[in-house]
Parts: sequence; C-alpha cells; structure tokens
Amino acid sequence: MLEVSNISKRYGETVALSDASIAFRAGTIHTILGENGSGKSTLVKLLSGIVHPDSGTMFLDGKPFAGREPAAFQKAGFATVFQEVLIAPDRSVTDNILLGMDGLLKRNIPRSERRERAAAVLARFARTEVPLDLPAGLLPLAAQQLVVLARAIARDPSILILDEITAALDFADRAAVFDLMRELAGQGVLILFITHRMDEVTALSDRISILRGGRVVRTEESGVSTPEELLKAMAPQTAKELAHG
Ligand SMILES: Nc1ncnc2c1ncn2[C@@H]1O[C@H](COP(=O)(O)OP(=O)(O)OP(=O)(O)O)[C@@H](O)[C@H]1O
Ligand SMILES: [Mg+2]
Repeated sequence: MLEVSNISKRYGETVALSDASIAFRAGTIHTILGENGSGKSTLVKLLSGIVHPDSGTMFLDGKPFAGREPAAFQKAGFATVFQEVLIAPDRSVTDNILLGMDGLLKRNIPRSERRERAAAVLARFARTEVPLDLPAGLLPLAAQQLVVLARAIARDPSILILDEITAALDFADRAAVFDLMRELAGQGVLILFITHRMDEVTALSDRISILRGGRVVRTEESGVSTPEELLKAMAPQTAKELAHG
C-alpha cells in the first residue's frame, strides 16, 4: 500500500535516515522500533510532508507519490500524531479535535453538530473524561495527547501514523487506544506505530521494522524474532550489557 524506497535525509552533518526502504501493507499494525536518535521521527515527518527527502522515492498504491506539502498527504489519507503534542492552547477541545475538518468536508460543520462529533470520536478510545469546552491548553498532557489522537481519528485516515503516543497516557487509555488500533487495522487501515518500548511491540505488531543509526536493519513479521533478538538488532551495546549483567 505504501512503500518508501532508498530514502535519505540529512540535517547538516547529521544523517537522520540513510537509504531507508520499507514496504507497508494495508490492514496491518507496522511498528517502527529504534533507539533515541535512530531516525524514527524523521521517517514520520517525511511521511507527513513536514520534511522532504534528499533522495529516494515514495510509492502509494504502487504509484510514485509526489506530494510535498502536509495538505497533499492529508488528502491522500495520511493522518499523523506527532511526538510533540501539537495543540492550539486557546481553542476549545472540540475545536482542536475538528481542526481543519471544515476544509476537508468543504463545508462548515454546524455548531450544534461540532460538540457531538468531537465527543463521539473521543468515546471511541478515551477512558479519561475530557471536558469538551475547556481551552485545550489547560488540560494535563495526557488529556492533550488524547485530543491530538482524536483529531487524527476524526479524519478517518487510511494511513494512521502514531509517533510515541503512549508515553503520556495512563494505563486504561493506553489499553483502549491499542484496542482501537486493532479495530482500525481490521478495517484495512495501515497503522505505523512508533515506539521504543519492547512490551508494546510484541503485544501489538503485525510487522516490525528496526531502525539503527538511520538505517533500516530489518523488517519482519511479528513473532519471527524474540524480544532479545529485537533488542540486539536495535541496540547491540545495550543487549550485550544486559547479557553480562
Ligand atoms: N531539525 C533537526 N535538525 C538537526 N538535527 C536533527 C533535526 N531533527 C532530527 N535531527 C537529528 O536526526 C537524528 C534522528 O532524529 P529523529 O528525531 O528522527 O530520531 P528518533 O528516532 O525519533 O529519536 P527519539 O526516540 O528521541 O524520538 C538525530 O541525530 C537527531 O538529533
Ligand atoms: Mg522521535
């Protein structure tokens, strides 16, 4: 469904991604696993039109995808929840969830309908109560995370990209988000799940790609490697230290 092919990206002297190639299938939860600085968020930003590759090609449904701006990616069905929680602090929770939707629907959603819509999206996965009329900036970080997730879900994406979204969430919300991810994948949505937590990887993934130093060191079906083997591929030094106590 989606393929990145020989993608490279540098920031000055720093090589953030080097010749990265991964093929993603519709209806799967595809985990991107890697240590800090391994290039995960760079891949996320490339797949959202926030940064542009120095070289390489992206294919969508088998055809080269030439979109460069975030709007082109959104139009093609991508929705991304970034690692940095991007919220309009002075706007209500409802406004934050429906941000940009009027444009997508080519009409304004009536006021009465807005609140209902926002509540319905949140109800799909939020176990924590999120007050709809409060300025989003007043919410604790965990609730803001739920709001930006709701914004992505509201767009009904065919490709949903989640960059380290679970760090701030409490246990009940995290479990409910995982359930929703499985449900969406079951409906054919491709989910890119970015994490460095091994427990989440084994529980959730259909396929796994490991990034190390900007390189894709492997892509495989979940269950092929043990967590120890994955850790070794992701962080050989850490794995060695653990093995030697
Ligand atoms: N805007 C930027 N300017 C300069 N260097 C950058 C920029 N963004 C990322 N980098 C560098 O590129 C490399 C990859 O960063 P990236 O954010 O993709 O890693 P990551 O795997 O998402 O890490 P983390 O787990 O900490 O989120 C790192 O060395 C980082 O310092
Ligand atoms: Mg990151």
